Amino acid sequence: MKVFTTARQVAGHYEKCGCEAPGFVPTMGALHEGHLSLVRSAIKKCPMVAVSIFVNPTQFNDPEDLKKYPRTPEEDLSMLSGVMRNDDFVFMPPPEEIYPGTDTRTFDFGTLDKVMEGLHRPGHFNGVAQVVSRLFDLIKPSSAYFGQKDFQQLTIIRNLARRNYPGIMIVACPIKRELDGLAMSSRNRRLLPEHREKGGEIFKTLKNVARMARKKEIDELKTYVNKRISTIPGFRLEYFEIADDVSLTPLKRKSEMADDRNYYACIALFAGNIRLIDNIRISLR
Ligand code: PAF
Repeated sequence: MKVFTTARQVAGHYEKCGCEAPGFVPTMGALHEGHLSLVRSAIKKCPMVAVSIFVNPTQFNDPEDLKKYPRTPEEDLSMLSGVMRNDDFVFMPPPEEIYPGTDTRTFDFGTLDKVMEGLHRPGHFNGVAQVVSRLFDLIKPSSAYFGQKDFQQLTIIRNLARRNYPGIMIVACPIKRELDGLAMSSRNRRLLPEHREKGGEIFKTLKNVARMARKKEIDELKTYVNKRISTIPGFRLEYFEIADDVSLTPLKRKSEMADDRNYYACIALFAGNIRLIDNIRISLR
């Protein structure tokens, strides 16, 4: 495995090994088994794999969150060296390599970035689009791997790729969970022990929603989730919505459902100061 910090080094590597465009796994580091599963999926399909580690300032709407985002470069490299092959590489650019000047680009995603995460984290998806497009331009991958935990991010990146990078295949990978069901996330390591202990309740709640979904109206499901999360000490629900993975429009009533769409129950909450998200696919009929 190689480690590069500049686009020039990456281009030199491509020239030297005469290989085709890599499969690409963009990350912000603080890697866990969920990231490694993306890397393993890419390795299965692609002769060369690139992983980027870059904590992107433009996608943080809260400066405190950016400051506290875990950074563990040595551990990350050691984990990656256990799975990556000789010509695979890690791209760890300094901020000026990604943003030589202020990035003033704005992306129009219609209503996709105005709901759920977009509503609660203004500017977040514009920042994600800025960094992902920059990374796509520098790495020039043939495919890119994203986790389904970031459900809305995945839909928005698919939209970005369809319009601006039709040659890059976007591959969605299943959510990796801890034994108690808590979705793996770099933020989990910042949970207080008493909050981590209750972390499995989030997925239990979503599984109950999936079970109840055929019989209950959207409002009833929302009331259930609200009640259940509010009984967990230190937990505060930010939103719970049911949306399809194309329009992302939160449903108000089941009668608004389209037959040709897949629906997901999406949750965001605070466990203490740590914001967590998760989702589950559901059948409403
Ligand atoms: O999902 C993430 O870790 C980030 O949003 C991404 C896609 C690496 C962009 O910074």
